Amino acid sequence: MGTAKGNEHKLWLYISGQKKYTLLAMKRLFGDKEIRKKVGLLAGQISRDFAGREVLLVGILKGAFIFMADLARKMTTPVKMDFVRLASYGQGTISSGKVRITKDLETSVKGKDVLIVEDIIDTGVTLKYLFRRLKARRPRSLKTVALLDKPSRRRVRFQADYVGFAIEDHFVVGYGLDWNEKFRNLPGIYVVK
Ligand code: IMP
Ligand code: MG
Repeated sequence: MGTAKGNEHKLWLYISGQKKYTLLAMKRLFGDKEIRKKVGLLAGQISRDFAGREVLLVGILKGAFIFMADLARKMTTPVKMDFVRLASYGQGTISSGKVRITKDLETSVKGKDVLIVEDIIDTGVTLKYLFRRLKARRPRSLKTVALLDKPSRRRVRFQADYVGFAIEDHFVVGYGLDWNEKFRNLPGIYVVK
């Protein structure tokens, strides 16, 4: 259970290692209505750019699954969907800079119009890596969309073709994004304080 006051939300979080609850304060950055509107705009723009072509959406698990589900349903071009799962060596919120594919695509991208769907770009390492790997498989075109972007955190040069919201350097959860696997199901996007 939680309480809400304006944009401030407080949630009880169960810490299993310590077998106790703690009260976590969060600030809402984007509500579900605002997100829906933005996803609709992105889908419209992408559908216009890919008009008359079939797009293979490649979602990066797990974070992008909710964004991709909503985006796909707003698109007006035919779409197919597949997923990859990536892991970065090292744990926690700081990327070590080395990425590998732990679950690959089940579809060939060769000759196809491919759109990588990501939840958030932080250092840029993940998307840059996946982009390179998929490009080598000779798709007809390869583009990227990210719902969120933290440009100030970039460690490698990478610019997505479509971005929903550019945000400051905050750690955010909700709408697919997690904090230790928690909060992916929150309908809005929140900053953990
Ligand atoms: P990058 O390789 O540093 O760009 O990291 C991108 C990945 O880190 C995303 O796919 C997310 O899984 C994760 N990530 C980065 N920032 C956040 C955040 O604020 N909240 C939740 N996950 C994040
Ligand atoms: Mg992710």
